[in-house]
Amino acid sequence: MKPSLTFFGPCVFLLGAGVGHAESSPEEITFQSCRVCHGAAAGETGIPAIEGRAYDDLLASLMSLGGTTDKSTIMHRFSAGQSREELEALSRYISDLDGPNK
Ligand code: HEC
Repeated sequence: MKPSLTFFGPCVFLLGAGVGHAESSPEEITFQSCRVCHGAAAGETGIPAIEGRAYDDLLASLMSLGGTTDKSTIMHRFSAGQSREELEALSRYISDLDGPNK
């Protein structure tokens, strides 16, 4: 049984949903869904906070999560569906944010 997947499952459907303002960048909109799990309260769930983390670190994590053979993980499902360019833009955006990793 995978209780965490059952719990987080619905969040995944929010990824890429057209929420936010018309002038928001695609990365900004996508990040709204990341915050659900990786936001300020992340410490309570054991999911690491990612705001302000180094660009190279973020990109490497997202690329490897997308390439993992364990297709049951949350992050695999997201990363595998994104192009390299999209992951680069998203990593750039998140690394520029202020956060506990700065
Ligand atoms: C449904 C919850 C959830 C959402 C939404 C989510 N993540 Fe994650 N993320 C996780 C979990 C859980 C892990 C730990 C690895 C795993 O189980 O896949 C993780 C791991 C990561 C890692 C690796 C962290 C490390 O320390 O190795 C990065 C980077 C990351 N996520 C980025 C993102 C980005 C960017 C988004 C938005 C596009 C996002 N996540 C959305 C749950 C989520």
